[in-house]
Amino acid sequence: MKKYNIAFLGCGAMGTEIIDYVVNNLDLKFNIILLMDNNLDNAEKLLTQYNISPIITDDINTLLDLDNIDLIIETASIQAVKQYAKDIVRKADIVFASVGAMSDQDFYNNLLDNASKYDNNIIIPPGAIGGLDAIDAVKDSITSIEIITTKSPGSLSGAEGFSDYENCKFISPEVIFTGTAANAIKLFPENLNVAVTLSLFGLGPYKTNVTVIVDPDVKMNCHKINLKGKFGEMTFDFKLEKSIKNPKTSALAGLSIIKILKDY
Ligand SMILES: NC(=O)c1ccc[n+]([C@@H]2O[C@H](COP(=O)([O-])OP(=O)(O)OC[C@H]3O[C@@H](n4cnc5c(N)ncnc54)[C@H](O)[C@@H]3O)[C@@H](O)[C@H]2O)c1
Repeated sequence: MKKYNIAFLGCGAMGTEIIDYVVNNLDLKFNIILLMDNNLDNAEKLLTQYNISPIITDDINTLLDLDNIDLIIETASIQAVKQYAKDIVRKADIVFASVGAMSDQDFYNNLLDNASKYDNNIIIPPGAIGGLDAIDAVKDSITSIEIITTKSPGSLSGAEGFSDYENCKFISPEVIFTGTAANAIKLFPENLNVAVTLSLFGLGPYKTNVTVIVDPDVKMNCHKINLKGKFGEMTFDFKLEKSIKNPKTSALAGLSIIKILKDY
């Protein structure tokens, strides 16, 4: 079996979950050769935790100088994608977790062009949702598509779109945002990657409607997707456990990337 060289950009909650799985289950298939994080401690602590010895860096040039990377896993931030994606899509196949960056359609199209020039693939994981194969199949006849995301105050805390509510005592569920996926990701960059993922498989970020509900009693991250068209109607309902390390991230998001690695 060919062993692939894999590099990680971002070693937080999701990166660690994926590295854990690779070390324990896919070590015959993947060789972890580089960990990049602008918080070096997050990368360094994984060396002893998993007894691995990749290059550790916070400098993108170290990654760009390597000529033996097969696959890059980005689990950092939208800002990191905006900063580095143009260069790293030339190096290897890449899985992007911070899909929110792709709400800029020109940026995304340029990335796709750049990657294909170098014979590399951009892989968009389903992340914290599913059903994207069915949505993709009917995309030309969708007339309306929406995602309703319900999270606890703690999961939304820190987002620009939540700033007016940080000190509120919620006693019942409350709608705090309605608008397009393009606007939602600007206000909730760490919470609404799913809306942009949905938009890439459906009608795009300007025609995907988003509602964000804050619910003081909800324990999980919940996403309900509704779409209609000539094909009929579809509804998908996700109630997801949070990542232990990051309440903004659903555990399914990491698992969706692990599935990509199993199939790679
Ligand atoms: N696609 C989805 O459905 C989905 C679901 C959940 C989270 N996400 C996104 O995936 C990403 C990772 O999520 P997480 O829960 O692991 O986040 P996290 O905050 O736990 O980890 C992110 C790590 O990346 C590092 N980082 C951030 N910006 C960086 C940069 N510019 N350069 C280098 N390192 C950088 C941080 O230091 C941190 O160690 C986030 O962008 C998050 O919004 C996507």
